[in-house]
This record gives sequence, structure tokens and C-alpha cells, in this order.
Amino acid sequence: MYESILIKDIEIIFERDTQIGDLYLQNGQVKAFDWHLNFPAELVLKGKGLTAIPGCIDTHVHLRDFDLKDKEDFNFGTRAAAAGGFTTVFDMPNTQPPTISLDALAQKRQKAAAHCLVNYGFYLGATKNNLTELNKAQNIPGLKIFMGSSTGNLLLDQESDLQNIFKNTDKLILVHAEDEQIIMENTRKYMCEQDVSVHAKIRSREAELKAVQKAVKLAKLYHKRLHILHITAAETVAFLRKEKVAGLITAEVCPQHLFLHGPEAYEKLGNFAKVNPPIRDQRDSMTLWQGLKDGVLDFIATDHAPHTIEEKIKSYHEAPSGMPGLETALPLMLNMVNTGKCSMYDINKWLSQNQVKTFGIPNKGYIRRGYDADLTIVDMKTKRKVTNRKLQTKCGWSAFDGMTLQGWPVMTIVNGNIVYREGDIFDQIKGQEVNLT
Ligand code: DOR
Ligand code: ZN
Repeated sequence: MYESILIKDIEIIFERDTQIGDLYLQNGQVKAFDWHLNFPAELVLKGKGLTAIPGCIDTHVHLRDFDLKDKEDFNFGTRAAAAGGFTTVFDMPNTQPPTISLDALAQKRQKAAAHCLVNYGFYLGATKNNLTELNKAQNIPGLKIFMGSSTGNLLLDQESDLQNIFKNTDKLILVHAEDEQIIMENTRKYMCEQDVSVHAKIRSREAELKAVQKAVKLAKLYHKRLHILHITAAETVAFLRKEKVAGLITAEVCPQHLFLHGPEAYEKLGNFAKVNPPIRDQRDSMTLWQGLKDGVLDFIATDHAPHTIEEKIKSYHEAPSGMPGLETALPLMLNMVNTGKCSMYDINKWLSQNQVKTFGIPNKGYIRRGYDADLTIVDMKTKRKVTNRKLQTKCGWSAFDGMTLQGWPVMTIVNGNIVYREGDIFDQIKGQEVNLT
């Protein structure tokens, strides 16, 4: 741990311009930036040829732990975050035990303080009868509702239950939007199909659109803040383009839906491409990119959802849904910058700033004097293959294994501490719970 770090000659991506100079971090904060600084520092780093961006924030991860620690845990999951350039992660409640009470939240907090290497926050999961208790929770980013069934058993698809939540909470509501009835009908219809490509037929575009329409209607009716998780379908983007109300409704997209599409992804990856909601067609991916560019989709979240290889190689109907994403999201995006498809300002917006705006996270998302020294330093020239055996995530695989990408994080700084540097993890560094109040 260093009390102060001076990074010389580094390129910094600010909100609207890029500058090269010296960056001084002290006591966990950004203290100064100028073309030449002479401050005494415990550690002086050469930044020449490297680029600093605000630490990336992933507001949708499944760190598992507890009874699901065979898949992932706080330590491995946040090692993956650090290696992937993420300085803050928000963890989902479909764990075992599920995070559906203040007690379960307290347990997570206690364990995370000892094991998380980056900053973190915890969602609570809504059930039929826990709203009164959840409303008392302090400092949580939001309440998650599974409108369609997925990993875990937090399904909440009854209209009256949904109404009750939208009516009676002032917390941000996050929805996994897939219509359970449509999923069930299609599951029956395609019961005998064994090929994973049927996944997109079972969890159809209609299933997503119907649930999104329902949630948007409730948010407008009760005037509640709604965040829609992992949008996948072209039709949903079109609907949101018309119906999304600024300041009330936000939406996210995942790398797997931007970068992978059927039939190729299913042919190549089998069940390793099985995620909820599913990977769809090229037409959908293209529409998602458009939605991201024009702001219909606010930001990127990974939905890092590791499962073991043993589970994933089971038959289609048995294999669980989900894939890891923390270590590939940023390189995938930096590679897009290198190929001229988006800019570093887009990266700042889609991986830090719009998360900060959506969740009201103070002192993060920008490289500014007095802000937290959460920084991701990237080398835009490094070209490397995604390689399963080099990953930090406990599950040990990636859907992007073998893909050559140019632009990689080389250092991740959390609260002024170097937690990742060129392949090495410094796991004596611990993150903190994000202060959302
Ligand atoms: O693919 C998914 N995996 N979608 C979800 O909704 C849950 C996640 C998980 O926790 O495995
Ligand atoms: Zn998820």
C-alpha cells in the first residue's frame, strides 16, 4: 500500500478531452494532474504510452460465494474484476442462501469486507413477502426482481406482487425481464429439442418484450425508478426508443449480446453460450449497438455469471445459464476503439459514468481532483489472446477463449492501491462497500 503514487507522462481520458501529463494520487484520492508535477511520492510509475480511464464499474455480477462457491467466490470473482479493469462491482442476490433479508445482507457484507479486492455493493432480491424488510435496508443499489425464472429461485411473476413492489418502495427497481408464462409454454413445446440453439426460441423476443412492457407500465404508473437488466432483442430496443422516460427508466446491455450471435455462437460454444436472456441473431446485436450509441441503452454490464465446466457440459436442458464476463468486457471494448468502432469517451460513458449517474455513486466515474483514486490503466497497443488457463475467475473458461484482442488493462488501482499489475494480483488489498448515501 502506498500513501502516494505519481504516474508520469500518462494519457488521461477526461470527460471531453484527452491530455498527457503527471497524475498524483494521495490517500486514496486523485490529488493533482498537470503536464509536469514534482510532488514527492512513495511510488513513481512510468505512464508513457499508457492511458488512464476512470475505474470501470460493473453493476451486474454474480460473485456467488457461500453455498455456490464451487462456481465463484468473492476472492476469485474480484480477482477477475481487478484483472479486467473493474474497480467496483455490484453483486446480485440469487446466491445460496439468497440475499432476501437484512440478515443475509449483513452476512455478505461481513464476508466481502474480508475477501473482496475491489469496491462493491449488494442488491437485495424481492420475494412475495419481504418488501417491508427490504425497504429498511441502508446503502443498497436497488431491489432485483426476477420476472422470469433463472438461476436460483427468486421468480416473482404475479401481477399483484409486482404491483405491490412498484407501489410500495422508493428503492431503484431492477428487473430481469422475461415473461415466465411464455418461457413455460415454449419449454413444453421444445421439450424434445436437444440443441442449445433452441434456447433463443424458448426465451423468445416476445418473452422479453412482454416483460419489459409490463415493467415500464408499472414504473410510469407509480412513478418509480426502473432499471432494466440485459436487453437482448431488437424489438425491445425499438419499444424503449419510444417509451423510455429520461430520469425514470434506464437499461443495460451485456458484452455477450453485443459480440456474440446465433447460429455461430451456439455452433461454436454449445451450452457455454447458454445465458438468460439468450444470445440472439446478428440483427439483434446490431440493434443493440445502435441502441447503445444513441443512448436508448445507458451502459454495459457484464452479468458475470460463472458456472463450472462440469455443469456446462451437461445436456442442454440440464446445463445452467450464464457465462463469466469480468475479464473480457474491457478488452473487447478497447479492441472496438482500436478498430475505430467507438471512442475512449464512449468507454468512459458506458463503463463508468452512466453507472455513476444511474445509481448515484458519489466520487467515482471521473478522473477529477478530490475523486476516489479508482483508475484503470490500459495499454492500447498490447495484442493478446483471451486464454482460459490465464483467467482469474474460478470457473476457468470464457466464451471468448482464443479471440485476439488489442487493448488490455495493465494496472487497476482501487482507492489509491494497486490491486492488479501486468498479470499479478495483490490480494492483501481490500475494497470497500460503495457509499451510496
Ligand atoms: O444467464 C444468467 N445467469 N442469467 C441470469 O439471470 C442469472 C445468471 C446466473 O446467476 O447464473
Ligand atoms: Zn444476472
